[in-house]
Amino acid sequence: MSAVARALARRFPREFVWGVATSAYQIEGATHEDGRGDSIWDEFCRRPGAIKDGSNGDRACDHYHRLDEDLDLIAGLGVRAYRFSMAWPRVQPQGAGAWNDKGFAFYERLVDGLLARGIAPYLTLYHWDLPQALQEKGGWMSRDTTVRFAEYASEVARRLGDRVASIATHNEPWVIAILGHEAGIFAPGLRSQKTAMQVAHHLLLSHGFALEALRSQGCRAPLGIVLNQAPIHAATDSPEDLAKAHLDDGLTIRWYMDALLHGRYPDDVLSFLGADAPHVLEGDMDAIRQPLDFLGINYYTRNVSGTGAPRDPVQSGKEVTDMGWEVFPRGLSELLTRLNKDYRLPPLYIMENGAAYRDRLVDGRVADADRTRYLQSHIAAMADALEAGVDLRGYFVWSLLDNFEWADGYSKRFGLVHVDYETQRRTLKDSAIWYRGLCGEHVGIHAPRVAGADAGG
Ligand code: GCO
Repeated sequence: MSAVARALARRFPREFVWGVATSAYQIEGATHEDGRGDSIWDEFCRRPGAIKDGSNGDRACDHYHRLDEDLDLIAGLGVRAYRFSMAWPRVQPQGAGAWNDKGFAFYERLVDGLLARGIAPYLTLYHWDLPQALQEKGGWMSRDTTVRFAEYASEVARRLGDRVASIATHNEPWVIAILGHEAGIFAPGLRSQKTAMQVAHHLLLSHGFALEALRSQGCRAPLGIVLNQAPIHAATDSPEDLAKAHLDDGLTIRWYMDALLHGRYPDDVLSFLGADAPHVLEGDMDAIRQPLDFLGINYYTRNVSGTGAPRDPVQSGKEVTDMGWEVFPRGLSELLTRLNKDYRLPPLYIMENGAAYRDRLVDGRVADADRTRYLQSHIAAMADALEAGVDLRGYFVWSLLDNFEWADGYSKRFGLVHVDYETQRRTLKDSAIWYRGLCGEHVGIHAPRVAGADAGG
């Protein structure tokens, strides 16, 4: 066993949840099977140049047809939980009206298969794959979509709410709004700050409507949302760079946290947005500010912000992953302790943390020591946050499998498990074996002592 794994495991309480995470569009494939409707990512992938390697999610990891094999993979890692998302167009092809029982049957098999293996199902309702039919009616720019989302959430909870361990409404509303509607590099590929901020508002509003609906129908699963966050550091201590970093912190962290926890948007961001600020109706902010049973945070790196040209971390001699993201583990403990200071937080989960590296499968092995080191340093940073008083309940490695990395297609590998996309063969990487060891050590450390065992020394 790894001495590092043992030392780290000791720093986490018995009930701490170790898991792995995926999302529907990135692994399922079967995009036109058993009644699934088109999503905005199916449409986006058909646009020439949208995806760097020209690929799409039509097959992905073929998870839809390899469910039992992948459930055994998850169980074999010794994790206590699995975070997955449900493809809305698989269960409601038009995003309104008829439900698709065949689509729900897949997720019922998934959830029941996890429970049969003693693994807690952590469900995310929306991980970016909006039904295309809704996009054609305005998508998240349309306020009507917030109501459609609450209806979808309600039906999911009616069918699965008694079996899942957690329900998150959205994964990364900032990415959905900004990369999808301002930068245009993600689906639906729009480029307007005004649109993006209205979408950000509607996503938060739909979250609030969904929580109200689920609680009114008696759903007992813990309810929350997952936000991507990175601490923003000013490039220099010039007043201009400090101001820019504070604004970027407002646009990426405080906009969502203040709305969800305080029921208001930050004034500095609203004044920066001016006419691009969203149209907010009476009652909207109270609807958004539903009590949270948990808050999920996705952490990968820090951001450096300034008025000058963006700095390339590689040029500054920083260690980076294959995404070009700086390896900056102390940013995780810094972020969590800052949130803990600035907000009255519900229990937190790191719902995504991981790294892409140029993995090579040689003689049936992937020696990804860099990924193992990344995980070790970030798990240590979580332990620091725990010891600083942060109520951190769990950690999910992104990702179980190499998968479709959005606009990067299949060129970036984040998995603990290597996927050969030709053969669909799965191979545990060295990092998966290390993480399995950590999970095992954690169980061992907290295993109930057998009476008399101590006497035996
Ligand atoms: C995200 C998404 C994941 C990504 C992962 C790597 O956080 O962007 O939740 O779907 O694949 O983060 O970019």
